[in-house]
Amino acid sequence: TRTPVTVTVTGAAGQIGYALLFRIASGHLLGADVPVRLRLLEIPQAVKAAEGTAMELDDCAFPLLSGTDIFDDAAKAFEGTNVALLVGARPRTKGMERGDLLEANGGIFKPQGEAINAGAADDIKVLVVGNPANTNALIAKSHAPDVPSDRFTAMTRLDHNRALAQLSKKTGVSVDDIKKLTIWGNHSATQYPDVFHAEIAGKNAAETVNDQNWLENDFIPTVAKRGAAIIEARGASSAASAASAAIDHVHTWVNGTADGDWTSMAVVSDGSYGVPEGLISSFPVTTKGGKWEIVQGLDVNDFSRTRIDATVNELSEERAAVQKLGLI
Ligand code: NAI
Repeated sequence: TRTPVTVTVTGAAGQIGYALLFRIASGHLLGADVPVRLRLLEIPQAVKAAEGTAMELDDCAFPLLSGTDIFDDAAKAFEGTNVALLVGARPRTKGMERGDLLEANGGIFKPQGEAINAGAADDIKVLVVGNPANTNALIAKSHAPDVPSDRFTAMTRLDHNRALAQLSKKTGVSVDDIKKLTIWGNHSATQYPDVFHAEIAGKNAAETVNDQNWLENDFIPTVAKRGAAIIEARGASSAASAASAAIDHVHTWVNGTADGDWTSMAVVSDGSYGVPEGLISSFPVTTKGGKWEIVQGLDVNDFSRTRIDATVNELSEERAAVQKLGLI
């Protein structure tokens, strides 16, 4: 039998945690033949709730789950971790300035970066889900100098999946037949869902849709503002879809993208497509053997250039703000 893979989930007692843990334990994160050991990190007030979730995990009798441990100390939670899902974050509350939000999250992601640096396994892979995800990933990465920087990623897969769903609805083609869609930039309302290189049933997506007005005034804002629309409808933020996207992100990272397709991941920029080096920005990415690569050589038209620049500028501003606060 295989040695279990250690997966640490932070914010385990939150709503995404509740939708995520059962899918990890049932084999959807890494594969149906890979046993997992869960380490859950929560704040002290939420440890009891996490214990309740761990009781339910026991009660599912998942054959692949070899144990669940709960911590309120980051240093312990990341000991021997192979995959870290950083979900817990400080949400923006009424009247909170951006600086306060970044500072509160710095207080979470700095010690977690340090703990990953000190105790995680050599093959550690980190996915940041907690918002502001790209900048939280940047903070964690900058406090883990011994971990290769390509191991820190942030989630734009939910945006990617939302874009697939909208395109599928518009064209009546199954999501399976839509390839090479890209989310560029920040996981925020400035993100740019790009269909100019996408293919629908083997044909160029932008040409197939042939409706620039729909792309600009319906598709892009619908995808970018979907999070707010879910809150409006459900009275709570996206949880099951966010958990599902986190599963997809790690599964694709570990198991590879299909030939002739790519995915969207926020990864550290090497300067590709004019994105300043070091920013954690979403790109078209292929994965193989547990490593990602930014897809190179795509033509970027003027429309896309303007949109990419806008979302990347926002990331530069966030980086400048956390630099000013001494968080990176
Ligand atoms: P939630 O509020 O239900 O749960 C968050 C949990 O994190 C709470 O149980 C809280 O106690 C815990 N937590 C707070 N500080 C912590 C710390 N220092 N260490 C460990 N745990 C800590 O929130 P929900 O709905 O589960 O969302 C979590 C995050 O994911 C939010 O920041 C949300 O904005 C973000 N999100 C990101 C998406 C993306 O596409 N990147 C999509 C949807 C949500």
